Amino acid sequence: MIRRLRRLAQFSRLFPRLRSRLEYPDCDKYVNETYWQQRGRKYLEEFAEHGEGTKVAFAKQESVFLDVVKTLEFKSVLELGCGFGRMLKLLDDNFRLHQIWGIDVSEHQLGNATRLLNLADKSYIFLQQGNISELDWIPEHSFDLAYTSEVLMHVSDPEGILRSMQRITRKYILILEWQDLTLPFGVSLVAPWCFNHNYRQLCEKVGLVILDAKSVVEKQIMIVAQATSRNNGSPLT
Ligand SMILES: C[S@@+](CC[C@H](N)C(=O)[O-])C[C@H]1O[C@@H](n2cnc3c(N)ncnc32)[C@H](O)[C@@H]1O
Repeated sequence: MIRRLRRLAQFSRLFPRLRSRLEYPDCDKYVNETYWQQRGRKYLEEFAEHGEGTKVAFAKQESVFLDVVKTLEFKSVLELGCGFGRMLKLLDDNFRLHQIWGIDVSEHQLGNATRLLNLADKSYIFLQQGNISELDWIPEHSFDLAYTSEVLMHVSDPEGILRSMQRITRKYILILEWQDLTLPFGVSLVAPWCFNHNYRQLCEKVGLVILDAKSVVEKQIMIVAQATSRNNGSPLT
């Protein structure tokens, strides 16, 4: 009975709050870290169960991501909220990079990423458990490229994260996130784990120079920005 109810809730897009309660009973209200530690346990399974339309959208998203990163010059990369390593694997398969880093709050997701990326054979890939709101341990200008994919949309206040990305990045910041600025209400009312941020405004607020901004699939935006020096505001080379 409980399983059937869970299934029903899982497939119901109409009652996301109910779904959240049934699936993540400890998350009475959305607490980013607790929620993702729980959801991470079955995220891969959930991902594999997506319908055809969603699968096509993810394939398109991945192909646009690849096309865009191919235009950038980078040898080291960090993904914030790397999940089970979907995007990191794309990078590893298509580029000869010196360093690939992924951070995620979910140990379980990182376990899946370890398997997907065949980590045992690759000394240049590093996966680290941690909260992307706390990146003080990473030295300035550590990576050529830092990016997020569907992660800032799950954080209530991403400004600090963008500032950290700016601090730890030498060249580029890429943001690939869901955004629907036409919605008349806060999306968190119906889906407490989602937030509708205005990424262009946020980038401008923290002083990033936007190089490219485009819609990827419906309601998804990709922004490529150049990290800027906090001293003189000019792009770093
Ligand atoms: C929707 S998944 C996206 C995963 C991956 N970026 C992708 O595109 O396939 C969101 C991921 O962000 C992670 N996450 C959410 N909030 C986080 C935080 N504050 N710190 C670190 N990871 C976080 C979750 O654990 C989850 O793996």
